[in-house]
Amino acid sequence: MLRSRLFRLSTIAVAQRAALQTNRLVCNNRLAITSLPACQRSFATSDRVPETHVRSFGQPTPMTHPNIMNKGEVTPGLSASEFETRRSNLIKSLPEGSTVVSVGYSTRYMTNNIFYPFHQNTDFWYLCGFNEPDAAMILEKDDSERGYKQTMFVLPKSASAELWDGPRTGVEGVKELFGADEAYDNAKFSSYFKKVLSSSKHIFMDSPGSMPSLITADSTKKLIETGLKLQTILPLSKIIQELRMIKSASEIEIMKKSGMISSKAFIEAMKWTEPGTTEGQLWAKFDFETRVRGSTILAYVPVIAGGPNALSMHYVRNDMELKNGDLVLVDCGGEYNGYASDITRTWPVNGKFSDAQKELYQAVLNVNKACIKMCTESNSISLHGIHSHSVKLMKQELQNIGFNVNTWDLERILYPHHVGHYLGLDVHDLHDLDRSRKLKKNMVVTIEPGIYVPFDDKFPSKYQGIGIRIEDNVVVGKDDPYVLTATSPKEIVDIEFCCKNH
Ligand code: GLY
Ligand code: MN
Ligand code: MN
Repeated sequence: MLRSRLFRLSTIAVAQRAALQTNRLVCNNRLAITSLPACQRSFATSDRVPETHVRSFGQPTPMTHPNIMNKGEVTPGLSASEFETRRSNLIKSLPEGSTVVSVGYSTRYMTNNIFYPFHQNTDFWYLCGFNEPDAAMILEKDDSERGYKQTMFVLPKSASAELWDGPRTGVEGVKELFGADEAYDNAKFSSYFKKVLSSSKHIFMDSPGSMPSLITADSTKKLIETGLKLQTILPLSKIIQELRMIKSASEIEIMKKSGMISSKAFIEAMKWTEPGTTEGQLWAKFDFETRVRGSTILAYVPVIAGGPNALSMHYVRNDMELKNGDLVLVDCGGEYNGYASDITRTWPVNGKFSDAQKELYQAVLNVNKACIKMCTESNSISLHGIHSHSVKLMKQELQNIGFNVNTWDLERILYPHHVGHYLGLDVHDLHDLDRSRKLKKNMVVTIEPGIYVPFDDKFPSKYQGIGIRIEDNVVVGKDDPYVLTATSPKEIVDIEFCCKNH
């Protein structure tokens, strides 16, 4: 298809212009009709076109997707006032004369012209919910009633670009739906940025790192270098991450659904597993079972590791056959309405744990459950604190089943990772905030102890080659944790019950 693109562009140009003329004549009572992509314009010449198709945007809106969005929402489950509060909280936390420059990502490519599914910069998304590539937003603190001016830069409506890349929200749409006071074609970003560089006392903005974005464009890079000579550009992400730490009621509702969708996928995957199933087939099963329930994408490349493949933390080849008598470790979660799930379960390929697998599994499960109980504000503990407890608990559990284990081996070989991390829009959420903060109500964390026993005779032979991790997603409560992934089976009896229900 792509090879013939140039040829098709030139031959359809004339027909396209004619079609636009026709649309103007036939549908002159429909305001936005000439800016529709071609596929919708051809429908629009008919009276049968539903009103919801008359306007098109680059992402779901209550107009076009009433099945998943309510009136007043900017993204599914999140209202315009929630996004307004986020921006306003950010601006209030900054000194007079501050300007925030938040830049979204560009499309990333696997190879020439072949793009990966687009994923937005989550800090940018957190502030406005806009989900198209090559966008930016500038918030200038002022003394207006709102407290700031919001200017957005987006890809403009373009019949020829939309013919290929799908509908865009455009400059007018972004004012209407995303709260912008002013909006411009993103080609205007550099000149506007230049203006704020000289007119603001403090600029808060992140360097894009390795991510392609508007500010990796040469012209803007030069401007930033010049700007840096004029004044300090201060980091932005850490400030936004502070705001992202405590989840709102609507975010928790979304995360509950996200956890339920992925948990249900685990049930279906357990029911479906049998010797001879491949890791790749299980991957496809998760993709299907999460998307069919409303997830838009898997939140990360899953680990689907049969037998000793589970000894490698980031085994993502997922290309082997599952063997009778082995366990399979699956670390997989869907993203739902922007929010990630991150679940790990380990179950027997043939549906029945062996005695050795059961003993080791129960040891990890005991640590998982004890650590989840610690996830409360009243417990006054951090993720690092829970991790230290988990190491001690794990050592005791392993001793109980015959390991003679020292702390070095435990923390470097058998249980080499942390007990958990923050979770939210990103799988490893709030990556600049350390894990020594005391947990507070409505923070969301993972609890994921694991044991990976290598083929080394200093460990009991019956456990060698077994890798087990049990990972849950937990909302910290005042006195009680709320487990978002509670419906994903993890007790031995429940897993065996699920597995035998083909
Ligand atoms: N799935 C990545 C993690 O558990 O941290
Ligand atoms: Mn995980
Ligand atoms: Mn995790």
